[in-house]
Amino acid sequence: MADLNIEIYGSPVLRQKAEPVQNIDGKVQKIIRDMFDTLHKNSGLGLAANQVGILQRVVVLTNPNTGEVMALINPEWKEIEPEKEIGEEGCLSVPGIFSKVNRFRKIQVTAQNVQGKQFNFSAESLFARIIQHEVDHLNGILFIDRLSPTRRFVLASKLSRISSNGDHE
Ligand code: NI
Repeated sequence: MADLNIEIYGSPVLRQKAEPVQNIDGKVQKIIRDMFDTLHKNSGLGLAANQVGILQRVVVLTNPNTGEVMALINPEWKEIEPEKEIGEEGCLSVPGIFSKVNRFRKIQVTAQNVQGKQFNFSAESLFARIIQHEVDHLNGILFIDRLSPTRRFVLASKLSRISSNGDHE
């Protein structure tokens, strides 16, 4: 079992855009297995490769409706309906902070699986929220970026403490 080190808020890799995966080879499959282990050990709902210092478009997550874990390689999504929904989010890279975020309620997702096969599915509510949160990571975006300026102001000192305690340079 590999338990990868989780990058904490303040780490530059969380602010970088991950690259599309070109070849889904043994190396990528190993990364995904290690990410599954890391997700379980930290009791997370989702984990993006940036969070373990790897700039590739890979996400692992738990489908909250079935409890199944899945890997999404090169995931993309678009909203099915314009409606958004507010729900509480946290992030393994921003420990101790939970806040309400507005996200699309219902989305259509396209990704590749570990065999490289393209698949599509729709997701709603919490499942849709997790996917939007994780794909944001691949684009260098954190959920705290989506909070109101007032809420961010309230969290500012907590965030700077997390950033200075993280084991990054
Ligand atoms: Ni996160």
